[in-house]
Amino acid sequence: MKFVLAHLSDPHIPPLPRAALLSLFGKRITGFLNWKLRRGNWHSREVLNALVRDLLAQNPDHIALTGDLANLALDAEFGNGRELLGQLGAADRVTVIPGNHDNYVRGAESKYMTAWQRYLEGDIRDEYGFPFVRERGGVALIGLSTAVPTLPFFATGKLGRAQLRRLASALAETEARNLFRVVLIHHPPAGRRSWLRRLVDARQFRKVIKEYGAELILSGHDHVAALNTLKGVTGRVPVVQVTSASAPHNDRHGGAAFNLYEIGGEPGAWTCEMKTRQVQPDCGFAETGSRKLI
Ligand SMILES: [Fe+2]
Repeated sequence: MKFVLAHLSDPHIPPLPRAALLSLFGKRITGFLNWKLRRGNWHSREVLNALVRDLLAQNPDHIALTGDLANLALDAEFGNGRELLGQLGAADRVTVIPGNHDNYVRGAESKYMTAWQRYLEGDIRDEYGFPFVRERGGVALIGLSTAVPTLPFFATGKLGRAQLRRLASALAETEARNLFRVVLIHHPPAGRRSWLRRLVDARQFRKVIKEYGAELILSGHDHVAALNTLKGVTGRVPVVQVTSASAPHNDRHGGAAFNLYEIGGEPGAWTCEMKTRQVQPDCGFAETGSRKLI
């Protein structure tokens, strides 16, 4: 088999919609001020547009977007998110999972579940929502949600016991179907980060991976490119993080990037090569790295 999967994350779609004053209350005030002060001039629509253009020109078989399409979970942001998903492609070729900014305040979840429904539903719809499983050309995309509303200044994520239990079954079931298992999870389950930004049940997630395995885990959240590994059943499982899809070229992490995974081989002898394409000073994208993961 040969399958090319593209991965991008954390577009935090700019510009921020003119927030209706009445809808700005509680945690949103903190987020709004934070955005205005630190991020307002940082995320770039021009870079995001250029990334989408370059990504589509690579003609991947499928695209995975690991959350934080929104900033404050305002109604208009879910519409903007749906528009971006449409630009990336039809729902059967694009998969999205939510990030903490999409579920920034109570009540947001039902809004993105509706607005983005066709992009985050599994092949078999069940009553649970997450994880969902989509089979595409020998690959299983397993979408998780770590997005939970938190107190101001917190950006933690949580899977919860019920979702972890269903993840274990999904991993076992897709392995039995001889699929290359790609787990999509907004909060990285490996590496170091601030306590305020962590996945609170990362240890329990790692236990599931150790027991049931996976071939590849894709994350965002930190806006930093990183490659870590977790212990799987037969070897280490790569955990890859990508920078924010709207970060300008001169930001301290090198600017917006996306990864292309060329997946091949067969069960027990999978191959996976990762290519990174990153924004350049002229706002074009160029290949900046290539690495054999498996
Ligand atoms: Fe983010």
